Amino acid sequence: MTDNLFQDIKQRDNPKTYRYFNGVSWKTSSSGRCIPIHFPHDGSIIGYVQAVTREEIDDVIQRAARAQQEWRHVSLKEKMTMIKRAAQILRDYESFFTEMLIVEIGKSRYEAKSEVLRTADSIEFCTYEVINLYGYAIKSDVFPGYKEDIVSHVERVPHGVILAIGPFNYPLNLVASKVAPALLMGNAVVVKPPTQGSISGLMLTQAFVKAGIPKNIISCITGEGREIGDYLTTHPGISMIAFTGSSSVGQAMAQRVGMKPLLCECGGNNPVVVLPDADMSLTAKEIVRGGFAYAGQRCTGIKYVLAMKETRDRLLPLVLEYMNTMIHVGDPRDDATSLVGPVISEKAAEEIERVIQDAVSQGATIVSGGSRRGAYIDPTILTNVSNDMRVVKEETFGPIVSFIDIASIDEAIEIIASSAYGLQASVFSLHESAARRIADRLPVGTVQINGSPQRGPDHFPFMGIKASGLGVQGIRYSLEAMSRLKSVVVNPTE
Ligand code: G3P
Repeated sequence: MTDNLFQDIKQRDNPKTYRYFNGVSWKTSSSGRCIPIHFPHDGSIIGYVQAVTREEIDDVIQRAARAQQEWRHVSLKEKMTMIKRAAQILRDYESFFTEMLIVEIGKSRYEAKSEVLRTADSIEFCTYEVINLYGYAIKSDVFPGYKEDIVSHVERVPHGVILAIGPFNYPLNLVASKVAPALLMGNAVVVKPPTQGSISGLMLTQAFVKAGIPKNIISCITGEGREIGDYLTTHPGISMIAFTGSSSVGQAMAQRVGMKPLLCECGGNNPVVVLPDADMSLTAKEIVRGGFAYAGQRCTGIKYVLAMKETRDRLLPLVLEYMNTMIHVGDPRDDATSLVGPVISEKAAEEIERVIQDAVSQGATIVSGGSRRGAYIDPTILTNVSNDMRVVKEETFGPIVSFIDIASIDEAIEIIASSAYGLQASVFSLHESAARRIADRLPVGTVQINGSPQRGPDHFPFMGIKASGLGVQGIRYSLEAMSRLKSVVVNPTE
């Protein structure tokens, strides 16, 4: 497979500069400004994307709103055919998407490839699930004082134009997981990819365009969030926003946009509770996988482990052992690299380093790692951590797992409950009933028993509470979120 599919996106090759998609064609912005995209490994520039203007945003949204009026009436069967085609394009061009993720966001080859294939599978799965979303009718007679002669016909209708804002850590999967359900439910979509991840977002958009999505139903605009974010999210032409990103950006956006439906997946500082009877080997393996995958830059990444001292003493040596065998820190282009490559930028790594130093200055002990080289943070284990240290209190998007000693399970539950976040938590125990009793008391969106936090499989509901988000994602849940109920009530005339 050649990369011809993506030729239209390029404005020029040297330096590589990419256009944005205005819904009809690939355009150079009239701003005359471009944003450099850096390879996280060494900071070198891999390309430039357009910094679009407000007028270009207005134009894209206005035309999307007009086109959506027709798209909503295109048969579901036709929509499904196009969406399935988009999934197949991702599979056909898997190596192009994989290579792009490696250089644009520094994901290891294994993780990048699995993001591409997972994205194709999720897109296709939406087409299977959408056919199970039915409308229904409700008769009036169940309510006191009514006869059965009033009927509410309830159906799902599109919101209109959905703004899909993706994060840098999954620029394909967490954009496609918004785009596919939005389109299937009859919406037009304006994609705003993360700055670092923009080129992948443009390529993904091209997959939908080449799959036959009609003009103006999908567009992709690029620019710095801090320059165009407010303008876009508060734009009157945007009917609904599906956002994945940091809690601070999500919370600020929620305050600004007013009464617009929002689906927000934000940060997490996911804890693990280890009971004395846990399978320590399984637990250690899951902690390494959950804490260090994609260098800890997942909102579902494990951030801290709560265990009594005796349990921690049995667990920690195994965690260190699995870190040695499972992690291979290196250049993401290198096949040998496993779990930990660079974080997204040297600036981000500097901040992570400061967070480690803060913890140490407050009494934490570095058991492993702790140092930085450029954008690389050595996989780090901290002990003697307390939950008021930034490394645990805030979402630290880096390869660090902290151990907090607890005196009782009640103390673990209090610590988790006091967190600003509430995405996921894990409980490790061989007694399912004991683990479930703890799960019942944890104020988070999802509790994993004997597994590390994760979003997938993608048809499971995925949601956070508190600073971790608003609404529910997951294939069926996203289809529901990308539509609204509408009721037509038929009253008797006689
Ligand atoms: O940070 C994005 C979040 O959705 C993580 O997804 O699949 O790595 O658990 P996953």
